[in-house]
Amino acid sequence: MTAQPESAPEQTIDVRVRVNGVLREVTVPSRRLLSDVLRHDLRLTGTHVGCEHGVCGACTVLLDGEPVRSCLTLAATADGHEVTTVEGLAAADGTLHPVQQAFVETHGLQCGFCTPGFVTTVAAYLEQNPDPTEEEATEAISGNLCRCTGYQGIRAAVLRAAELRKEAAR
Ligand code: FES
Ligand code: FES
Repeated sequence: MTAQPESAPEQTIDVRVRVNGVLREVTVPSRRLLSDVLRHDLRLTGTHVGCEHGVCGACTVLLDGEPVRSCLTLAATADGHEVTTVEGLAAADGTLHPVQQAFVETHGLQCGFCTPGFVTTVAAYLEQNPDPTEEEATEAISGNLCRCTGYQGIRAAVLRAAELRKEAAR
């Protein structure tokens, strides 16, 4: 009988990341994905994982305010940075983020699986373009897939969220 070679223990890394305003520290295998750290290590299951190939956008979170596919991002990339998940968008008193409120008002939610990725994507988009046209709203959500194909409600949510932001700024 031939002895099996012993596999080398997987290398681990320490990751310090501010998630939704709170400093979190985890020691994880160096190849661990940010989506897995958020969902499994930090139990922030609002970030959904669909395709795991960067296609559907369900796993989108904000890294220093920029939308990223957490299923394609190594947790190590987030070390020393700021991550915002869908759980971090509402105000401390529970008031929904304008994009969340807009999804409710315009029936942008169907099964809800894609919703966290849309909400984080749109929240970041409106920071860059606070007054989108209908065409720009369509473009804003073009990188996210909704298997229920309820895109009209989601596009309406982008436009309604822009209105809500303006109202809040008055
Ligand atoms: S799960 Fe990351 S893009 Fe689909
Ligand atoms: S609401 Fe069902 S996948 Fe988008």
